[in-house]
Amino acid sequence: MLFSNNIIHDKEHKVVVIINFGGQYAHLIARRIRELGVFSILVNFNEFNESILNKYSVGAIILSGGPSSVLEKQSPGISNWFLNLNIPILGICYGHQLLAKILGGKINRGIGEYGPTTIRLINKDDLFIGWENEETVWMSHSDYVEYIPNSIVLALSENNYIAAFRVKNKKIYGVQFHPEVIHTPKGNVLLENFIHRIAGIKPYWFPEKIVNKLIEEIREKIPPEEKVLVAVSGGIDSTVTALLIKKAVGDRLVTVFVDHGLLREGEVSEILNNLNKAGIKPILVNARDEFLNRLEGVNDCEERRKIVGELFAKIFSKIIERDPSIKWLAQGTLYPDIIESGSVPHANKIKSHHNVAGLPKWFNLKIIEPLKMLYKDEVRKIAYYLGVPENIIKRHPFPGPGLSVRIIGTFTKEKLEIVRKASKIVEEVLKKHGIYDKVWQAFAVVGDDKWVGVKGDRRAEGYIVIVRIVESVDGMTADWARIPYSILEEISKRITSEIPHVTMVAYSITPKPPSTIEPC
Ligand code: XMP
Repeated sequence: MLFSNNIIHDKEHKVVVIINFGGQYAHLIARRIRELGVFSILVNFNEFNESILNKYSVGAIILSGGPSSVLEKQSPGISNWFLNLNIPILGICYGHQLLAKILGGKINRGIGEYGPTTIRLINKDDLFIGWENEETVWMSHSDYVEYIPNSIVLALSENNYIAAFRVKNKKIYGVQFHPEVIHTPKGNVLLENFIHRIAGIKPYWFPEKIVNKLIEEIREKIPPEEKVLVAVSGGIDSTVTALLIKKAVGDRLVTVFVDHGLLREGEVSEILNNLNKAGIKPILVNARDEFLNRLEGVNDCEERRKIVGELFAKIFSKIIERDPSIKWLAQGTLYPDIIESGSVPHANKIKSHHNVAGLPKWFNLKIIEPLKMLYKDEVRKIAYYLGVPENIIKRHPFPGPGLSVRIIGTFTKEKLEIVRKASKIVEEVLKKHGIYDKVWQAFAVVGDDKWVGVKGDRRAEGYIVIVRIVESVDGMTADWARIPYSILEEISKRITSEIPHVTMVAYSITPKPPSTIEPC
């Protein structure tokens, strides 16, 4: 087993441990390693200790990049206990400098190297098989490693800084650049060399294997007499969760679909059709009035998330009352959800995503989250493997609390209808132009502010609708999509002419960070 904490060494399946010195960098490395067919986990630098060797068969260790400087007193550090275990090690950027430091080297502040930089290979090594003598890499640093004892310098930057080193006769490496980003064109080749050639880990992390492991784990967790409840939303995460549970426990799976009135237009029947095609027949609960009446007038978005969580829990409780053998609630939480919700130390709480934190304390079903170690692209691959219909796989992510998080300021049914209609228009226009499948999310948002307009020669005061269309790989970072003006114009014209009380359409041009994808 790869996920359980109590499993000792599974020699066949070596795990790559990524020591996390700063959020996004570490996630990207973890994803790249998994794409190479090897399971990887993130461990915060302050939790990296010998106990990791009892939990996993560690095949390689990577020190991630991060925003700090090893020259600062309070910078994140680790001791050198792992250097002599004969486990291959790779330090990246901050990790490269920290590795040099704990090896007894010297680090200095230098000229910053940012963006594409050319490096020269000056000594041959397996790490660089497939690289030319000069290659472009992505750099982002101003500290540099001046000296490391007992090491061979493998590559130099344009400023003659050490771009890569290897400790003599050991599989310990540092690279100043970022091989995990696409702007280092041969970065994947380097990671492949490190994982497959140097660490000798054979690929095994493929959908079939992942599915079997997950099913095995679910079976181990759920006792024979107990049932599992899955609230399906029509999205890929809850659908895959339900299918996995079904494969693991058969008819001890109970699925429920709550229509909370916060879904997109026409979505309820579309979702039910899709779920039926995937072999899931949920109990349908129409709770529109209950949700919308409770939300009416509520200002604070976090409060709305709490209300939605509470009402969901109330509905689940009623179902459990009828069938007391339901002891578990399965959720489609993903690896990044856990990190973004602040359940990992040092990660700030940004939003309490409904999946993770929205359920009230009185709700006492045991929680199982079969996907919680997976990234979205892995869930997609599993979904294809399980035969999930394509329109579920390709559907844009949609928050659990639905359109309620797309209303800024006071929640009103009027604003809900504006958002619903405007989002539908955004989706229709993008689908018409073949753009929908190319972007991560596309929707509309409305706030309380008004803009004076002229409709049919009369002064009209109306709402401002903000259209947000973003590109992203996993929702953790995102960029606004450069949609052609003519298409934006079409969206704007349709929204102002088809939705009464909207006088202005704005397009959001802020990436994440600093913004988040949803407005609240
Ligand atoms: P943010 O807005 O935090 O969103 O940049 C990142 C991704 O998560 C989705 N999201 C949610 N999903 N419950 C969910 O299940 C929520 O409360 C929630 N808030 C945001 C969002 O749509 C995006 O894909």
